[in-house]
Amino acid sequence: MCGIVGYIGPKPVVPVIIEGLRRLEYRGYDSAGIAVAGSASGLELRRAPGKLRNLETVIADQPLHGNYGIGHTRWATHGRPTEENAHPHRDCSGTLVVVHNGIVENYLQLKQELVAKGHRFVTETDTEIIAHLIEEELKAGPDKGAEALEVAVRRAVKRLTGAFAIGVLSANAPDTLIAARSGPPAVIGIGDGEYFLASDVPGILHHTRDIVYLADGDLAVLTPAGARFTDFDGSVVHRTPQRILWDPIQAEKGGYKHFMLKEINEQPRAIRDTTLGRVSLDSGQVFLPDLKLGPEEFRRATQLTIAACGTSWHAALAGKFMIERLARLPVEVDYASEYRYRSPIASPNEIGLLITQSGETADTIAAQREMTSLGIPTLAICNVVGAAITREAHGTITTNAGPEIGVASTKAFTAQLTALFTLALYLAQQRGTAAAEHSLHLVTELSKIPGKVEEVLRSVDDACANLAKSFSNARDFLFLGRGIHYPIALEGALKLKEISYIHAEGYPAGEMKHGPNALIDESLPVVVIATQDPTDPQSVLKYEKTLSNIQEVTARSGRVIAIATEGDHEISKLVEHTLHVPAAPELLLPILETVPLQLLAYHIAVRRGCDVDQPRNLAKSVTVE
Ligand code: F6R
Repeated sequence: MCGIVGYIGPKPVVPVIIEGLRRLEYRGYDSAGIAVAGSASGLELRRAPGKLRNLETVIADQPLHGNYGIGHTRWATHGRPTEENAHPHRDCSGTLVVVHNGIVENYLQLKQELVAKGHRFVTETDTEIIAHLIEEELKAGPDKGAEALEVAVRRAVKRLTGAFAIGVLSANAPDTLIAARSGPPAVIGIGDGEYFLASDVPGILHHTRDIVYLADGDLAVLTPAGARFTDFDGSVVHRTPQRILWDPIQAEKGGYKHFMLKEINEQPRAIRDTTLGRVSLDSGQVFLPDLKLGPEEFRRATQLTIAACGTSWHAALAGKFMIERLARLPVEVDYASEYRYRSPIASPNEIGLLITQSGETADTIAAQREMTSLGIPTLAICNVVGAAITREAHGTITTNAGPEIGVASTKAFTAQLTALFTLALYLAQQRGTAAAEHSLHLVTELSKIPGKVEEVLRSVDDACANLAKSFSNARDFLFLGRGIHYPIALEGALKLKEISYIHAEGYPAGEMKHGPNALIDESLPVVVIATQDPTDPQSVLKYEKTLSNIQEVTARSGRVIAIATEGDHEISKLVEHTLHVPAAPELLLPILETVPLQLLAYHIAVRRGCDVDQPRNLAKSVTVE
């Protein structure tokens, strides 16, 4: 995710900002920039693609002067990671700049409006429109100074939909730094005669421990005389600084013990950001303009072949259920590492899809090249804008999960499931297999998922920690699921084995009687995904069959932990432990049921004293075949 650092005070501004951005590097970024004001030369800007040292080289060649400023590290969402797309972004006059963390959902609509008013845009970003929007609002007001800027920012942010934390400065509003938040975090540091803005505490913790967390809808005005807070209507709000006692490493983890736990808890945001701007809650329509294949190509398609590895492969398996059910398009799922060794046969009008968090996995790149050599056009679902696989793909759906630091994938996985669900619905709409009413229902349900994930996080964490006490010494684990829940069983098993080193297997529940039942005894914990959507006959049938499988396990003294739908009390009578998730349509349940499995694996690994964020023998990005 992007990093923001702003400073106003007596210290040399450039080192404060660069050092702050460096301390936010753990958030991941692909370009950086800084704007400084307050000198005779007005407002000056330097930007560079790549690492901060590139920006430092630019600044060493062309030094910056001023006594207040803002800096930014960008994790690309709209537009490639180039110098041009790096923040800060300017208005037409070049006297006002904006840095932004988040996604402006209605940016195309605002851009059209501003273009019609004569604004010229030089980047591919959604952020640039914020600078122009503020400029337009400034034109509408009588003045130009700090007060006018504050009013203009307030008016502009009220027109944005989506998620944003922004920092704004203008050469015409001396000694003023403005911040606003709606969604992504932003904090204000209160020093002794100096004030800071940052997207996260570690960026400023070495200067001050007195921090105000901006609430959604807050606007902060920082001047050398102090920090003032209002809402977007201009009413004063009182914000009291909190004293932060974390050490710098704890601060990077947002106070969580591990990055993995932080990332598990970031899932509501990651899922929300992955749907932002892509679905209409009014019509149920899905928009995926970055796929770049025309409706005709999707209508004509005879097969979708997905290749991926590990956790991304599990997402692919779940995606098969979503796409086949909604879009009636046959889907083949391959391990990317196997694809080119099976002499694949390309069908006419086949489309390829690569799913990859990093976009750099060597096996997945090899599968993509094989598809290309067979004349199959490829699409990608990827978490990193501009990564190798996206460069070779016709089009990409970016999962906006933000960088994942824990080696075990968590938020990137649920963001992939979210992207696959939107893709399935999009294909259904292009192929005419989704009734408008059903689309609207599904899009509405999708919009409730982040809130439901929050509910799961709140309700099952303690229970998972307690289960870890009972089961952390188990030698083996079995995870069972049917239909779309089987890939989630595989994912639960993978999470557990990679971070706790306990042997675990995922199995289709119905296959137990064909062999694995032989393994069951009183020492074997069996996690069974037994959720259901009572309004969906297929889901109910599957649930009933899964109940029979549970009975097969308990009859052999196996110890069952069931993942069940809220309100299902019957299941608790059959099994030793139940973890509940809220009700949802069958195709969206996988996102919810993944969360308790992640937490169970996490707590077991912690109890076993394992290195949760960096499990042995594993790398975050596997760039060798
Ligand atoms: C497991 C995990 C891996 C990756 C796999 C593919 O938690 O993260 O299994 O999913 O190495 O990586 P990407 O998605 O980057 O292609």
